[in-house]
Amino acid sequence: MTPITCNEDLRQLAMRRAPRAIFDYVDRGSYDEHTLNGNRRALDALMLRQRVMIDVDQRSLATTMAGEAVSMPVGLAPTGLTGILHADGEILAARAAQAAGVPFTLSTVSICSIEAVRAAVEKPFWFQLYVMRDRDFAASLIQRAKTAQCSALVLTADLQIQGQRHRDIKNGLTVPPRLTVGNALDLLRRPRWAWGMLRTPHRNFGNLAGFISGGGKGMTTLSQWIGSQFDPTLSWQDVAWVRSLWPGKLIVKGILDADDARAAVDAGADVIVVSNHGGRQLDSAPPAILALPQVVAAVGDRCEIWFDSGVRSGQDVLKALALGARATLIGKAFLYGLGAMGERGVTTALDLIRRELDVSMALTGTRDVREIGPQVLWRP
Ligand code: FNR
Repeated sequence: MTPITCNEDLRQLAMRRAPRAIFDYVDRGSYDEHTLNGNRRALDALMLRQRVMIDVDQRSLATTMAGEAVSMPVGLAPTGLTGILHADGEILAARAAQAAGVPFTLSTVSICSIEAVRAAVEKPFWFQLYVMRDRDFAASLIQRAKTAQCSALVLTADLQIQGQRHRDIKNGLTVPPRLTVGNALDLLRRPRWAWGMLRTPHRNFGNLAGFISGGGKGMTTLSQWIGSQFDPTLSWQDVAWVRSLWPGKLIVKGILDADDARAAVDAGADVIVVSNHGGRQLDSAPPAILALPQVVAAVGDRCEIWFDSGVRSGQDVLKALALGARATLIGKAFLYGLGAMGERGVTTALDLIRRELDVSMALTGTRDVREIGPQVLWRP
């Protein structure tokens, strides 16, 4: 096998190893994918300022996120259905994150449950909440996260209604994946994936057993289920309600607008994640990196601000920090690793980003990740 030198190598391998419908679910964005592609273009367009003759022998990437020590300013974003990209995907990703000293976030719509992930790791992880129409169920999820000693709650604000992803509809993505004449050949070409899925007990929405009709055992298309269960009436009062139930750090994710950022802090957010959901929700929303400076200007003195949507390399992390983010989350970048090589792939994805960030810091004359600021960006 040719050596893996960048995240795109992991993406290519994941494309070969995961079933097509599942790879597309990970890889693609909503509607015409203007925002998905714009995220990358806007990050690529930023340039770094080369500095020379500065002693950069001793470098540190360590910092804190929501008060927790991390080995670098990168956390694993919550991603749904991770356990069908690779058998036990959430457990493997949580283990890789723990070994790398970075946070892992478990999605509400994960395949492995809160309890299954808790049993597999020693270090507390974070739980991401989607608020359902059934508020008692949402409250019970918060309670389960507390019982599992999750150390922060991530409330996702930008998916009251799901943006349409053409690929998922065309591929008929279901949970668990359904065997049809159309996809049987594709699945046969992925024996590694199929063998893993056959052996694991985790094949359905782990946190939602007993909530989805049929005990979580039926085949449900994700968009149908989201449409029927997620609460489109969600408002800032509800965020205050979540705040009242959760004594720990509250992270509000999916903010692109300065007014929304102020409202989130007023409702009790400790951290805001500037994000367009990786280009999976409102198509033609701005690239998240272009929205970041406005949010930093609006509330940067009142809470921590993190960034996601488009990060694939350490250079991207450096750019986000230069524009005022304290840290970044990664979604697809770690999922490509997971789809390619399971836990080892997530470790590889994190190692690549760590090395890229370290080298890019050195070449911009930066010794400590906490010193990164606008001075590392090149401006004509
Ligand atoms: C996501 N994202 C997401 N966010 C969330 O709050 N809950 C979820 O269940 C999911 N599910 C999900 C699945 C997949 C396959 C992807 C790619 C993303 C969004 C995620 O947390 C994050 O905001 C984006 O992934 C960031 O963009 P990048 O890093 O993928 O470019």
